[in-house]
Amino acid sequence: MLIFEDVAEWTRFQTRFRHKQVGLVPTMGALHRGHLALVDKAKSMCDVVVVTIFVNPMQFNNAEDFEKYPRHTELDIKALEKNGKCDVLVLPNLDQMQAYNMDVEHVDLGKLDQCMEGINRPGHFQGVMKIVKALFEMVVPNRAFFGEKDFQQLAIIRSMVEQQKLPIEIVPISTVREESGLALSSRNERLTQRGRELASRIYTYLSRLKRDLRKGEYTWMQLQKEVKQKLLLEGCEVEYLELAQNQSLEIIRELRQNMDEYRIFVAAYVEGVRLIDNISIAN
Ligand code: PAF
Repeated sequence: MLIFEDVAEWTRFQTRFRHKQVGLVPTMGALHRGHLALVDKAKSMCDVVVVTIFVNPMQFNNAEDFEKYPRHTELDIKALEKNGKCDVLVLPNLDQMQAYNMDVEHVDLGKLDQCMEGINRPGHFQGVMKIVKALFEMVVPNRAFFGEKDFQQLAIIRSMVEQQKLPIEIVPISTVREESGLALSSRNERLTQRGRELASRIYTYLSRLKRDLRKGEYTWMQLQKEVKQKLLLEGCEVEYLELAQNQSLEIIRELRQNMDEYRIFVAAYVEGVRLIDNISIAN
């Protein structure tokens, strides 16, 4: 695995990949099995896999969250080396990133960012789009790989790519979970063992919600209210718990037909750490 901290050096080197299929796995580091699943998928579909690690200050709407975001590049390098499927790791800094085109002003996200993460983290998706656009310019990938845990991010990046007619295929990868059901996330590192146990309840309730919605005995509003209360009693403070159409992300108050088109989305705080997750209610 080649490692570039100097982006100019990467840019010179990159020319040799002109006729190769390049897969990009953009990350903010603190790599876990979820990231490695993206790398594995990228390697199965591309000739060259490029991983980037950059903790993007533009997508944090909370300075403390940015400061506390786990950073341990040495361990990340070891994890990638052990995995053996990453060909190039690029570690840019903010100055280097700012040299790239971050023009996303004319991307019209419609309702995609007017719900859930979009309203609870103002400016977050603008920051994500800017950096992803810049990373696309820096790496020039044929494909880019994103996890479904950040489902709204995935929808927004797809929309940006489509509107800006970028020649990049966006490949989604299913959420990787611990045995307990807890979705893998770099933020889990900030939880105690007890916190992880509590956090795993989030997925337990998502799975129960899916089951109960499909049974159709209770309305979504009834189930939503009950689960928010139960999670709070167990130590997970829910910021939002929503049912949304999986393409438009339109928030649904009442479930009608075509159940398979919907997902349940949640953001909750456990031990002060903000976690997100989602589940499809398709069978
Ligand atoms: O999903 C992430 O880790 C980040 O939002 C991304 C896509 C690397 C942009 O900073």
